[in-house]
Amino acid sequence: EAWRPDGEDGRRGAGGPVKVRVPAKVNLHLGVGPLRRDGYHELNTVYHAISIYDELTARPGDTLTLTMEGEGAGELALDDSNLVIRAAHALAGYAGVLPHARLHLRKQIPLAGGLAGGSADAAATLVACDALWGTRLSREELAGIAADLGSDVPFLIHGGTALGTGRGEAVSPVLARPTSWHWVVGIADGGLSTPAAYRELDRLREAGTAGPPLGSTDALLAALRQRDPRVLAAALGNDLQDAALAMRPALADTLKAGEAAGALAGIVSGSGPTCVFLAADEAHARGLARDLTAAGVCREVRVAHGPVAGARIV
Ligand code: C5P
Repeated sequence: EAWRPDGEDGRRGAGGPVKVRVPAKVNLHLGVGPLRRDGYHELNTVYHAISIYDELTARPGDTLTLTMEGEGAGELALDDSNLVIRAAHALAGYAGVLPHARLHLRKQIPLAGGLAGGSADAAATLVACDALWGTRLSREELAGIAADLGSDVPFLIHGGTALGTGRGEAVSPVLARPTSWHWVVGIADGGLSTPAAYRELDRLREAGTAGPPLGSTDALLAALRQRDPRVLAAALGNDLQDAALAMRPALADTLKAGEAAGALAGIVSGSGPTCVFLAADEAHARGLARDLTAAGVCREVRVAHGPVAGARIV
């Protein structure tokens, strides 16, 4: 039960507030298999949590309310369609408690950016409300509720670096000696729809114009064990990248600009449009971020490292 800090018990949050920090994710390898009968694609992915965070605070309340600030404030609906509200209802329904809380979200993860920001917020909500309401679910129970909310949500409770299979909801940690990887994150203007990116990939594959599927994660996992960023750079891959580039051709300029600035590799993150670039070390990442900013191809450029923990009470 690693998401509870040492010494915490179920009374934590009885008077609130409970504050949870949750990271963004990138996919170091995103292998997309065939479309299943349930409308999802079979995935072989390696998730990696990076140090761009949203923060969710849960306080006791007489009803369920959500306010927000930061990335996407004013654009994101705060009603029952919001994944935070859905997560609170799902947990309360499962545990048999009233879904009463005042939730406040501070967002730094861009909306519809391919960094799983919405899924991160759902994971944070489960961890925060579990503490606020004293429901004390097991990790397996939380992961089960998480999977119903979205394919990436279970990973954002785990964090770190992990293998994702099924539609992405079946997560197992990648055991590796501790290494920090340094990333430059190029955030684009506006988002891309994840279902639309998967549909575009299906279309490209039907037309025979998609690249060959990445398949197994073996090479990526071997590269992680070597702890050499140049080796990892050569192993990064994303089957959704062609689809994201087809929907947003300007992303090719972003990837080129990162390469020209000396990134070891650049890939589209998840379904995009965020692009992530691997750096040799922290100083290299800072230099790269400066050059990518100067190139003027991104709305915003940030540095990050990974892996970092999943949704945790802070
Ligand atoms: O699981 P989640 O709700 O985040 O997925 C959003 C959409 O992305 C799905 O409705 C589906 O269109 C697409 N998707 C997919 N295959 C996956 C995961 C997501 O086709 N493994």
